[in-house]
Amino acid sequence: MSERTLAIIKPDAVKKNAVGDIINRYEQAGLKPVAMKLMQMSKPVAEGFYAVHKARPFFDSLCTFMSSGPAVVIVLQGDNAIKKNRELMGATDPAKADANTIRKAHGANIEFNAVHGSDSPETAAFETAYFFPGMEIFS
Ligand code: PPS
Repeated sequence: MSERTLAIIKPDAVKKNAVGDIINRYEQAGLKPVAMKLMQMSKPVAEGFYAVHKARPFFDSLCTFMSSGPAVVIVLQGDNAIKKNRELMGATDPAKADANTIRKAHGANIEFNAVHGSDSPETAAFETAYFFPGMEIFS
């Protein structure tokens, strides 16, 4: 089933020049970028994006990090895109991520973990609409 998911190449991975490698991994796995932009989130934009985590102890730190520099925000489309992207990413903590995953290759720790990916169809719909109007998505 073809579906869409929202991926973010986080500021740490942009800083490390890992954008090309990460997009290559998406494409090789059959996930096609159908919308994409390089942007620096303001802190309030990051807080809105992560609102579901508002009560968690790392919320402020996560939003400070995510607004600390440019990130690449991407809509990926393909068969089982949500699950496939989560597999490509690996575990939230890079130390626990499987070999050959993006977080194992490019993540430093549970905060600076290189990439984000939607975790459900509902989240994917919210996150995609948060950054892209329909006319900016090509499929
Ligand atoms: S997940 O992907 O929702 O199952 O992972 P979760 O553990 O719930 O984490 C949600 C997001 O919070 C980030 N995170 C943290 N940031 C800073 N410090 C700490 N300790 C920390 N723990 C988790 C994690 O990278 C997830 O970010 P996203 O962008 O959703 O991957």
